[in-house]
Amino acid sequence: MFFRLVSSSRTAIIGAVAVIGVTGAAFAGPIEDRQANMKNVGKAMGALAAIAKKEAPFDAAVVNTNATTLAENVKEAKAHFPDGSETGDKETWAKAEIWQNKADFDTKADKSVDAAMKMAAVTDEADFGAALGALGATCKACHEDYRRPKQ
Ligand code: HEC
Repeated sequence: MFFRLVSSSRTAIIGAVAVIGVTGAAFAGPIEDRQANMKNVGKAMGALAAIAKKEAPFDAAVVNTNATTLAENVKEAKAHFPDGSETGDKETWAKAEIWQNKADFDTKADKSVDAAMKMAAVTDEADFGAALGALGATCKACHEDYRRPKQ
């Protein structure tokens, strides 16, 4: 029985390692992870901005896909600011204030996720501009307080 327990948890560990290996995120640190998440957010936001600038047609399915990706990535990024990741082996633009105001930081992330979910639900082009404005404001609110500008 003990052996079975041990061997089955070993199998689980090997399985988990294999899964991590497939995503290529094996030993990436939190700084790299959150920057990757934010890059995905930026890309999704770019696709939405292209619609606003009339560089791309309004398409509710495209809006939904990008807004959902954005929501998922902001949500995931939240988990990549653990204590001790103020600095690391990679340059970070995250300000130390994040760890002094973690509750506020998390609230700002949640507001961004909420705004992205609202954007995901937009099916009428007439509602798109307002949803994008509201979403953009949530990025700005967090970046202003918690991110050093990139030079
Ligand atoms: C709760 C706070 C928060 C919210 C909300 C947020 N960001 Fe960020 N973002 C950050 C922080 C902090 C960094 C810097 C991370 C680092 O360098 O370690 C960052 C970095 C970025 C980067 C640079 C990534 C890189 O290193 O190349 C982009 C692009 C970005 N954010 C886009 C957005 C967009 C677009 C939104 C809104 C849809 C958004 N962010 C919402 C906190 C936030």
